[in-house]
Amino acid sequence: MNHATETRKPSLLTVEDAKQMSVADTAEAFNHHMNPGQYHFLKLLGFHEVLIDSAEGMYYTDRNGRKILDFFGGFGSLACGHNHPRILAARKQFQEELRHEIAIAFMSQYAAALSSNLASIAPEDLDMVFLGSTGSEAVEAALKLAEQVQGPERAKIAYATHSFHGKTRGALSVTDSEFYQSGFHLIENRVRVPFGDAAALESLLAGDTAVGILILETVQGGAGIVGAEPGYWTEVRRLCDRYKVIWIADEVQCGVGRTGKFFAFEHFGVCPDIVTLAKSLGGGKTAMGAMIARRPLYMKAYGDPKTALIHGPATFGGIGEACCTAIEALNVLYDENLVENSALSGAYLLERLQQVQEKYPKILKEVRGQGLMLGIEFQDFSQTLVPGLKQLVSVLDNRLKGSLCGFVGSLLLRKYDILVAFTEYNRNVIRLEPPLIVSREQIDTFVNALDDLLSRGVTRIVADYARNAIRPG
Ligand SMILES: Cc1ncc(COP(=O)(O)O)c(C=O)c1O
Repeated sequence: MNHATETRKPSLLTVEDAKQMSVADTAEAFNHHMNPGQYHFLKLLGFHEVLIDSAEGMYYTDRNGRKILDFFGGFGSLACGHNHPRILAARKQFQEELRHEIAIAFMSQYAAALSSNLASIAPEDLDMVFLGSTGSEAVEAALKLAEQVQGPERAKIAYATHSFHGKTRGALSVTDSEFYQSGFHLIENRVRVPFGDAAALESLLAGDTAVGILILETVQGGAGIVGAEPGYWTEVRRLCDRYKVIWIADEVQCGVGRTGKFFAFEHFGVCPDIVTLAKSLGGGKTAMGAMIARRPLYMKAYGDPKTALIHGPATFGGIGEACCTAIEALNVLYDENLVENSALSGAYLLERLQQVQEKYPKILKEVRGQGLMLGIEFQDFSQTLVPGLKQLVSVLDNRLKGSLCGFVGSLLLRKYDILVAFTEYNRNVIRLEPPLIVSREQIDTFVNALDDLLSRGVTRIVADYARNAIRPG
């Protein structure tokens, strides 16, 4: 008797099937197997009608051949733009040469080269690199390393108001958001300090010797592009030295040239003890995160054979093609002067946005930021929308109510084929983090579209949004 059981192949979609999926089929699979609540928001914004078939440089192209100008940039993940030809070529060559991916048994020349590149870019003795896949993973690695160095007596973590560091448990514990945190068991050994307030930091560190770790975004992205005064950072360095606190700079969003320097902290002439990177490190083609630590800290925590394996290697840490992609992305960044372009184009975009803000002060409260990490803050209309519109909008969705950003972002896509980003903590802020390859003409296209839209006035913007949102289909 034959006991071999036959494994029947379930009904699986092929890659070709995936490529051919319609908007409706994609929506159905998304709703049934991914995130129906998120679909609700995509629908509110009109993003649910768009199925992207390809992307190149500054543009997405959808199923109908419509080109969408990308000023969102994957929250800063696309420094080199979409599908940069040099990055594609490096990946293709890697595949054709049948290079190995998993770097857990043997050393990987790609992981080693990427680590040494990051050490060359990073100042002072930020020389030791841990490679992972995401920003959260880089933050976890940083927090764990700092805890190992400080020991249990000094493992209390200070983090900032309105911070965002990720959604894994450690990163979430230092993310200042009840919305993300509630219902989860978090690291208890932590304390919150006001962002940008050196006096508050000093009184915390002077009064609580258990605080041995400080984590700060150099520019707060999730808070709506919020920076601190330059003097704050010199104080952070001085205080961390004085009280022997390990300073972790989370540059997952603001690093890799985003603000016009490779690291945002370089604007202030200071250097943290550990820095985290992700997003654009993957060249817009892959998931890549990194933690870079000062050598003495790393050596103290994991520097000998007994401790070397405590936090690494991870199964997919330093995976081949991702490292190869990141190596090429870093070379592209410098060869094409993208960090300089970020500074120059960012200054131009900010100046043009300031002109728009001066033209519509009743609609726009402030424009701010540095390099190509800019925020447009709208006035708060939650209390002032004319009653009829307020009611209509609240029927559509409570979370968009009074936030002109949602309406403006939705209309920028629907009417002008431009994509922008929203903000978790402050729904009155639109975030602009376009690829660092953006040209003056593309900046003009964006600013002119915004100007044209705002010239319609608040009531017509909301009415236009509502008309589009309740359109059948
Ligand atoms: C500053 C910062 N840190 C960490 C993260 C988490 O990165 P990831 O989503 O790759 O886990 C983000 C994501 O937006 C971020 O902006």
